[in-house]
Amino acid sequence: MALLKIKDLTVGIKQTGEKILKGISFSLNPSEILGILGESGSGKSLTALSILKLLPPGLSYFKGQVLFEEKNLLELEEREVNKIRGKKISIIFQDPLSSLNPVLTIEEQMEEIFQYHLGIKGKKAKDLMIRTLKEVGIPDPEFRLRNYPHELSGGLRQRVMIAMAIACSPKILIADEPTTALDLTIQMQVLELLKSLNQEKGLSIIFITHDLGILRWFAHRILVFYKGQILEIAPTEKLFKNPLHPYTKLLFNSYPGREELEDLNLWTQERLDQSLCPFYTKCAMACKESLEREPKLREVEPFHFVRCFLYE
Ligand SMILES: Nc1ncnc2c1ncn2[C@@H]1O[C@H](COP(=O)(O)OP(=O)(O)OP(=O)(O)O)[C@@H](O)[C@H]1O
Ligand SMILES: [Mg+2]
Repeated sequence: MALLKIKDLTVGIKQTGEKILKGISFSLNPSEILGILGESGSGKSLTALSILKLLPPGLSYFKGQVLFEEKNLLELEEREVNKIRGKKISIIFQDPLSSLNPVLTIEEQMEEIFQYHLGIKGKKAKDLMIRTLKEVGIPDPEFRLRNYPHELSGGLRQRVMIAMAIACSPKILIADEPTTALDLTIQMQVLELLKSLNQEKGLSIIFITHDLGILRWFAHRILVFYKGQILEIAPTEKLFKNPLHPYTKLLFNSYPGREELEDLNLWTQERLDQSLCPFYTKCAMACKESLEREPKLREVEPFHFVRCFLYE
């Protein structure tokens, strides 16, 4: 049974009706690390924000469902979503400074979370804070609680963010490029921490990145995003051994040479622009079906899905 199910999530610009996320569907399993891979602007962050009803102003939901514990989060009142956010589903971002409050100490910020979600304060809350900070590998937690965010190094700040995110023992952690801004060694330490939370507590993680190497080592399953669509879904091993979509192949550097291809000039530029396949204009294997129909995400091998006419 999936823990979280996203169905046909379609998000776009309210005023113009332009779609940015175009029918995203996937599920997250219990204790799974699900990687979302995609280049800049492909809609990774927007997907993360959409799940928690945190869409930026100007954007709105056109279609779709986010199913969690038998409820569609998109239909819940803000008050109800607030009880889930940070408690059952947490999110961390690339830059912890933008999520931490600069004028509150770590203790004050953590206290807010405990009071709001768990209704505890005072000594009981403080004990739990210290325990959580220890759990994420922060040395001398009592001292750190008195710090303001700017007094912490980047690595420590991200650990504090993770501590806050897991403080209420959520089922799901969404991590949007949480290590991109960190030095390589610190990055590895943070990833190790997330991995151990997954293994020891069964925390399910949606991990967003454009770094293939991280996902290969870290994720159980990978979604490949491109222009607001999912082009491929596969367990990590399978995806690396046998990438199917021409875009994924390109990412993995095993793209066939242009010379092997049919003459792309058969098609005019206008027709290129009208293609229903998002990868058409860059695809070495571009096919005419893409001008007539939209490719659908299909399971072509067990647990391996791809959106491409080559496999129909
Ligand atoms: N508030 C907004 N208004 C209009 N368009 C937006 C808004 N936020 C994001 N977009 C557009 O949505 C698309 C997807 O953005 P998103 O931030 O999800 O990309 P991403 O995959 O996270 O990229 P990156 O790797 O750079 O973080 C982009 O083309 C972006 O320009
Ligand atoms: Mg992003």
